[in-house]
Amino acid sequence: MRILGIETSCDETGVAIYDEKCGLIANQLYTQIALHADYGGVVPELASRDHIRKTLPLIQAALKQANLSKKDIDGIAYTCGPGLVGALLVGSTIARSLAYAWNVPAIGVHHMEGHLLAPMLEKNPPHFPFVALLVSGGHTQLVKVNRVGEYELLGESIDDAAGEAFDKTAKLLGLDYPGGAALSRLAEQGDPNRFYFPRPMTDRAGLDFSFSGLKTFASNTLTQVIKEENGLTSQSQADIACAFQQAVVDTLVIKCRRALKQTGLKRLIIAGGVSANKQLRQALSHLMSQLKGEVFYPQPQFCTDNGAMIAYTGFLRLKQGQHTSLEIEVRPRWTM
Ligand code: KG4
Ligand code: ZN
Repeated sequence: MRILGIETSCDETGVAIYDEKCGLIANQLYTQIALHADYGGVVPELASRDHIRKTLPLIQAALKQANLSKKDIDGIAYTCGPGLVGALLVGSTIARSLAYAWNVPAIGVHHMEGHLLAPMLEKNPPHFPFVALLVSGGHTQLVKVNRVGEYELLGESIDDAAGEAFDKTAKLLGLDYPGGAALSRLAEQGDPNRFYFPRPMTDRAGLDFSFSGLKTFASNTLTQVIKEENGLTSQSQADIACAFQQAVVDTLVIKCRRALKQTGLKRLIIAGGVSANKQLRQALSHLMSQLKGEVFYPQPQFCTDNGAMIAYTGFLRLKQGQHTSLEIEVRPRWTM
């Protein structure tokens, strides 16, 4: 079975082909970051228009990369939510139309389920059950994963997602959108002992998160520093980035420890854009070696949005005989 996967939920057009025997045989990605940079965030209408321009050429490129023709495709998976409604409609309309024309089944995939299963694309995939920390630009969730399709939400952010907090704080520090990765690089130059940011919601029981206060804390620290130093030196900018990142990472580690204790599990996976963060990976590796457990993450290119995770998730569902009707339906808000 060979499945074409299409991801268009936000500002990345991703197309990939997953083969039951050989694994991932094509992967194409086009990022719209440059298009939205001037606006400091994703402009939904521009995102939809760019997906229209890029999806079909990327499908052709993926088929060429795998040396296949349309006749070799047995099913099409596409992200049908959550995400930007217009962007989702582009991917689903193209996927549904091609599936109709090629006479193959199609399946709508939950974007976060795609992220959650991305570590399964690696050479040494985790066994079920495990705890998943999903940290992206739109979501922060802890999920108990019993098997494919059986997910228990343990906790989630009550306001900003971790990636969103990274991006907003990066913007305050004058970095381009999306500034998560740039903030993280800047933090490497920072003095970890200069500022201390709070670890939100760690002083009470439970597995929910709140990150919006950290952005406000960063903003207040920044105002104070600018006043005292008559401007912002690059060292102070790095010191704030460092304190912010440390607070997010510590908070995530504390909650992962709790989730593992609560579920009695020793396997943790992290996925979503923020799982590319080096400091978070190091801290969670340290936690899991203390707990004598294991941590799994996707390779960096599959942490952020991509078509491979959608092709793979769609493959698993189509293999189980599931598929969605011909109706073009998207679910901008959708709990997993
Ligand atoms: O999963 P993703 O590509 O898109 C969503 O589904 O939201 O995640 C994008 C998020 C952005 O907020 C981006 O700044 C963040 O992931 N991100 C990072 C890093 N790389 C990407 N945040 C912190 N450190 C990184 N290295
Ligand atoms: Zn995502």
